[in-house]
Amino acid sequence: MINVVKLSDFRNFKAKNLKFSDRITTIVGPNASGKTNILEALYLLSTTKSFKARLEAEMIKYEETIASITGILDGIKLEVKITTGDNGWPKKKLTVNGVPKRTIDFAGNFKTVLFGPWDMDLVTEAPSIRRKFLDTVLSQIDREYRRSVLSYEKGLRQRNRLLFRIREEGIPRSQLLFWNQLLIKNGDYISQKREEFIQFINSSPSTFKNSYSLNYDKSVISVGRLEQYKEEEVSAATTLVGPHRDDFIFFEGKRNLSSYGSRGEQRMGVLWLKMAELNFIEKKTEVRPTLLLDDIFSELDHEHREIVMELAKKQQTIITTADEHFLKGFGKVERIDLKS
Ligand SMILES: Nc1ncnc2c1ncn2[C@@H]1O[C@H](COP(=O)(O)OP(=O)(O)OP(=O)(O)O)[C@@H](O)[C@H]1O
Ligand SMILES: [Mg+2]
Repeated sequence: MINVVKLSDFRNFKAKNLKFSDRITTIVGPNASGKTNILEALYLLSTTKSFKARLEAEMIKYEETIASITGILDGIKLEVKITTGDNGWPKKKLTVNGVPKRTIDFAGNFKTVLFGPWDMDLVTEAPSIRRKFLDTVLSQIDREYRRSVLSYEKGLRQRNRLLFRIREEGIPRSQLLFWNQLLIKNGDYISQKREEFIQFINSSPSTFKNSYSLNYDKSVISVGRLEQYKEEEVSAATTLVGPHRDDFIFFEGKRNLSSYGSRGEQRMGVLWLKMAELNFIEKKTEVRPTLLLDDIFSELDHEHREIVMELAKKQQTIITTADEHFLKGFGKVERIDLKS
């Protein structure tokens, strides 16, 4: 559980100390007071990534050159420092108890599940968003998964470059063999873990009236499949099969939720998914992750707000809202007030 966080020159915060309850903490403040920024900082401590910045340098406070976020998590000190670096490229330094760590060793110390209004995109938007979601969940619990994704992505770039050179320069196809093997090995691991997650999700008991499920649309990578697409791959100069082409589809009963669901049903589908994600991480690690909720109450009807309130009591939960009347049902909780 996260106990305290210190921000310095991060987004709109010059210097800010935050204290979190083991149970529920609410962050209350008007628009643009920095509520989402605090969740972004927590998410960064959890995954090393931002859920909203396109460029990491955006997180450094205007006119400053170093942003730092320090968190104490059950006695462990996690720190992320972002600097503008030379020639404009930001640099990120990660340490655990003062010892420098690589991304794959830093991520996973602090486990979180994040839920905000943008998560509706999981149902309605492009497959890359759903793949990113799968990677975020699985990366938190499995170092080998983090390693496989890095290695797969690097291999994919190399292989695509070679496909381009086969087409343009006529270099021999045999050069692909090494990369084929690397992608098959890492790709297998990735799809196996994604499959396991989706099976878990589909078999979890649901508190919803609707019955939601996910259908894994897996792009298998194998010697045979690469052979099958070899001509097309060269003309497209890109790798056409593998987990980078995976997707999953939301179903409500027998219907595709993205085409037939109402906005409300789609939102519930995402809530169902997030609840299952919490359970999955707990099952795999025996730790219930911290739930981060960004301004979601205004989007939910009464019944589903109750579901979220019940859910919030089951683990450490950090909730932001601009509108305090949503917090009435919570009783006494730790509260952080932000000003505009
Ligand atoms: N790098 C930065 N340096 C300084 N301020 C920044 C930086 N990046 C963003 N901001 C400021 O942070 C504020 C937005 O913070 P944030 O999105 O956390 O607000 P919020 O409280 O979640 O608001 P809302 O209720 O509208 O969602 C904006 O005023 C924005 O200008
Ligand atoms: Mg916000």
